Amino acid sequence: MKGLVNWEALQKLAMAPMMKQMDQNPAEMWGKSAIMYNQMAQLEVVYTRNQLDHLLLGPADSVLDIGCGPGRLAVPIAQRCARVTALDVAPAMLEVCQDNARRAGVTNLETRLLNWEEAVVGDNIEQHDVVIASRSVGMRDLVKLNQVARKHVFILSFARSPSLKEARDSLFRDVTDDVLDLPPANRMLGYNIIFNMLYDMGIDPSVKVVPDGFTRDYRSRLEAYDDLRQLGHFPSEKEEIFRCNVDRWLTANGDGSCTFRIETRTYIIGWPPQDLDL
Ligand SMILES: C[S@@+](CC[C@H](N)C(=O)[O-])C[C@H]1O[C@@H](n2cnc3c(N)ncnc32)[C@H](O)[C@@H]1O
Repeated sequence: MKGLVNWEALQKLAMAPMMKQMDQNPAEMWGKSAIMYNQMAQLEVVYTRNQLDHLLLGPADSVLDIGCGPGRLAVPIAQRCARVTALDVAPAMLEVCQDNARRAGVTNLETRLLNWEEAVVGDNIEQHDVVIASRSVGMRDLVKLNQVARKHVFILSFARSPSLKEARDSLFRDVTDDVLDLPPANRMLGYNIIFNMLYDMGIDPSVKVVPDGFTRDYRSRLEAYDDLRQLGHFPSEKEEIFRCNVDRWLTANGDGSCTFRIETRTYIIGWPPQDLDL
């Protein structure tokens, strides 16, 4: 069905600045972030579990995770399902994913090095029962997502600021120069776009918005600084600024220990694949 609003054009406009950067060499760009992303994903484990609980996953299902990164979702999904294909364009991300799978004792996860833009269903990528595109290039082609899934498709991303990168950057503001100076997420250009694109394709997607965030308990503030410092590199004269940035997110527990927590929200849009009204 042709909708009243050109949501596809809006999606392109909304994603343009980020995509321009990503499209140049996604493998290299994402490869450089693999270690940082994995560290942030470890702070996110409790919230990630909550996201998984909202996905329809059966023990006999095969699952395709498009743009799997370090396996934040792919590894725990492999513990719930028959098998997982963890697909990514960045070899460095797939190495971290394999390492995480090994540590978790997961043996039913296969990594696949492939640029999703070059994936052709039935040619170099086979159908899977459940398909996941989380914070992923996969959400740029909803028709291909619909085509590659047998039972269900799920798209996940941040429903508001901060995203993972924004949360990480909040610790390194005025400390390093790899902090992106982006305005906070614009609600007018949020998950409403994907919902409406699907609606116009004849799909009635489900939408859930769940708490997300990054948290860890530390025995002391010093332990927190030492751990979180590993998310970036900065000269020692910037230490005080870094500590002030971290302090914003630390709560003292009364016994000298403290809790680091940055909260945000993630949306989960899902649908069973169907014939499309294009
Ligand atoms: C923001 S991370 C998301 C990781 C994971 N899905 C999650 O939810 O935590 C995006 C991932 O998509 C991968 N990626 C980017 N462009 C891609 C492409 N064209 N084809 C396949 N993977 C891609 C990146 O390498 C990166 O690992």
